[in-house]
This record gives sequence, structure tokens and C-alpha cells, in this order.
Amino acid sequence: MEQKRKGIIIAIDGPAGAGKSSVASEVAQKLGYSHLDTGSMYRGATYFLIKRNIPMEKENENQVLDELKKMKIDMIDNRILINEEDTTPFIRTKEVEKFVSWVSSLPGVRKILVQKQREIAREGGFVLDGRDIGTQVCPDAELKIFLSASPEIRVKRRYLQLKGKAELDFIRKDLKRRDEYDKNRKAGPLQPAEDAIFLDSSHLTRKQVVEKIVRWAQEVIEN
Ligand code: CDP
Repeated sequence: MEQKRKGIIIAIDGPAGAGKSSVASEVAQKLGYSHLDTGSMYRGATYFLIKRNIPMEKENENQVLDELKKMKIDMIDNRILINEEDTTPFIRTKEVEKFVSWVSSLPGVRKILVQKQREIAREGGFVLDGRDIGTQVCPDAELKIFLSASPEIRVKRRYLQLKGKAELDFIRKDLKRRDEYDKNRKAGPLQPAEDAIFLDSSHLTRKQVVEKIVRWAQEVIEN
């Protein structure tokens, strides 16, 4: 017998610093849904490798994958638990950011994490944000948004979010480098799904973005 789903799936994809996670979290709250920030799973896996001193370079791909097979990853209210340890406070560092795009470009890594993401969202009633939600993780999502903003605005937003912990120039280079990496990788690249709605948030407040997405979601839910 088919299980009753808790609601629709909303996929929010887009480049770094577009505001996906905060928007996704608010949309979920307004709809009474759960939110899954898939970026923190890739960050958590990267942190796990750094802690174990695993060299993150091409020649070492097999060891990276072997190590990750020993990793038990759980998400509880978007806190990321790795082998039962809450790693949430440690995943938004420069060091993690330096390696995360390389780690997430490995097909073996994506296989493990995409499967986990699908399991988590299986019952519906979820807003997921990431790079490949609409294309790979939940290609049947009922609502897909590709959220972007101009590069300079994304840099400024990230600067404000980090409250001065990183300089503008560092953030500019880091976002550019990660976006290029994410767009050009073969496995689960950053790209809009064919049926995604493009939303440029450059001149919108977060509240306006949230309201638009909630309105679209309600239209889908009611029909
Ligand atoms: O918050 P920000 O947009 O800077 O990054 P994030 O969403 O936390 O994701 C960190 C990194 O994880 C990205 O730069 C991607 O390399 C990777 N990622 C991915 O490959 N696929 C996803 N679904 C989510 C994140």
C-alpha cells in the first residue's frame, strides 16, 4: 500500500551565496515543512576528512572514498551529526570551504550523500536546497526554483553573514572558484533543471523571495 506523503517536495538550487539556505528554512517554516540543507552534508564529509588528515587530492580518491564509507551521517533539524558527533559549529570554516567543492565533485561521494538525502525526504513535506536537487536528488519535485543573484550581491551577502570573519576579496575569490568547480564537474553539476523557475533575488529582500516561493508552493499544493 502506498504511504501517504506529508506534502510536496520543493527543490531550491543555485550558486553559492544566493541565500538558498535561509530562504529554504523560512519557506519550510511557513508551510509547516522540514528543511534539508544538503550543502552542510558535503561540508560535514569534508570536515570528517580534514580531521582524519586524509590528503584531498586526485591521487588519493580511493582512500577518500574508503574513509567516507566509515562515516555515519545524520541530520537532525539541520544539525549535522557525524558518527554521533555534532559537527555543525565546525563546517563553515575557510579550511572546509577550500576542499568542499573537490570532495563534492567525486561521484562516489555524491552517490553516498544523494542516497541519504533521498531517504530523508522520502515522505515529502520537505524543502531541500543545494546544487543538484531538481536534477538528481529529487527530479520529481513538484516545485523547483533556481535561485540566483548577481555575483557582487552574493559576495556582499556572504560578507554580512560572516560578520567580518572573512574579507571581501577572499569571499569574492572563494565564491567564484567554487561556482566554477560546481558548474563544471561531471557528477551532479550546478545547473537548473529544465522545469525550474528562475528567481533572481538581486533586487529582492529575503522576505519578498520567501513570499514568492510560498505563493507558488501554495498554488501547487491546492491544485
Ligand atoms: O552556503 P554556500 O552556498 O556557500 O554553500 P553550501 O550550500 O553550504 O555548499 C557547500 C559546497 O557543497 C558547494 O560549494 C558545493 O561544492 C557542494 N554542494 C554540492 O555539491 N551539492 C549540493 N547539493 C550542495 C552543496
